[in-house]
Amino acid sequence: MSAPIEIADGVYCVGVKDWNVRNFHGYTTARGTSYNSYLLLDEKTVLVDTVKSGFAGELLENVSAVVAPSKIDLVISNHAEPDHSGSLPAVMAAAPRAAVVATARGKDALERYYAGAWRFNVVKTGDEVETGKRTLRFIATPMLHWPDSMFTYSPDDRLLFSMDAFGQHLAASGYFERDAAPGVVMDEAKKYYANILMHLGGQVAKALRELEGLAVETIAPAHGLVWRERAGEIIEMYRGWAEGKRAAKVLVVYDTMWGSTGAMAQAIADGAARSGVDVRLIALAVNDLTDIATEVLDAGAVAVGSPTLNNRMMPNVAAFLTYVGGLKPRGKIGAAFGSHGWRGGGAKEVDEALENTSIERVREPLTCVYAPDAGVLDSCRALGASLAEGALSRSAE
Ligand code: FEO
Repeated sequence: MSAPIEIADGVYCVGVKDWNVRNFHGYTTARGTSYNSYLLLDEKTVLVDTVKSGFAGELLENVSAVVAPSKIDLVISNHAEPDHSGSLPAVMAAAPRAAVVATARGKDALERYYAGAWRFNVVKTGDEVETGKRTLRFIATPMLHWPDSMFTYSPDDRLLFSMDAFGQHLAASGYFERDAAPGVVMDEAKKYYANILMHLGGQVAKALRELEGLAVETIAPAHGLVWRERAGEIIEMYRGWAEGKRAAKVLVVYDTMWGSTGAMAQAIADGAARSGVDVRLIALAVNDLTDIATEVLDAGAVAVGSPTLNNRMMPNVAAFLTYVGGLKPRGKIGAAFGSHGWRGGGAKEVDEALENTSIERVREPLTCVYAPDAGVLDSCRALGASLAEGALSRSAE
């Protein structure tokens, strides 16, 4: 890294970029990611978050370009997940006089991970730490997305250190959202929200309420780029996602064995498209779950198709439904469909999984034997039209 970038007076980016990581505990990071760490120079020297284990040397080198690591007085751990705390042992070894600032749950997690005999300053919402000309304020954000999580707010800089929230898995040569190609930063922020936070809308809404009344001009997340010109926009996007806002969009997600379920999927998509809604026909064989979950976030309707294999749904359909089920998408309608041979079962399993995911099914599973005839294809088109109508009405809510 060249000289660390200053994002506010005396606040430096000292984190690292992980350009080539492509799998982040199952999340496909097509554009890599960054582990952001911020150094605040004041009467006290403060480090906000560290970086993933393996990057400690680079972090300490970046800190050293600004100040000797031994001068660090406080290491704020906004979030104990190892992508942000993995270098804490190395930092604490280099900064022997430092105390770790964390929530009680954060202290517990860090002690369990690292067994470090460190001094802790345990904080909760409303607690403050004076660092000289600044007073840093802490806002606990439990389950956003771990129990330990918190924001650190600097009123003097109008700056929010937001840990994972508002983050993007994105490695870029710049540091601010304006440094990314148009659309890229918001696409990655949406993908991040969908795959990490979709099931936590209530906690996200609570955190947004905590921010009301605070002057926030800059948001410095723990991944990706710093929000400045678009800080208000990303807060509004989070508000909409947390409320479960949906577009007039229909997804048709399927796998196929000999083309029959694929033909049904195509007919459902055709039926939906005639209503003028946004339709996505998504073959599980060639699409990535991370991208599909992003599409699910703001879809109004989701049809899911599987042929029957050994009286069950196809394994990749099960994987999709397990993954999306955990993300608990809200307020969607859907339906199961699929072909089978001598004995069914696949579409029925899909239907049960949709029910367990609280997706309101608009009809019983739509099935056919071996291959769809003209009547079945007509029924598929009618299902598509029905899903489109539901998605349209939900987009207006
Ligand atoms: Fe980026 Fe939840 O860690």
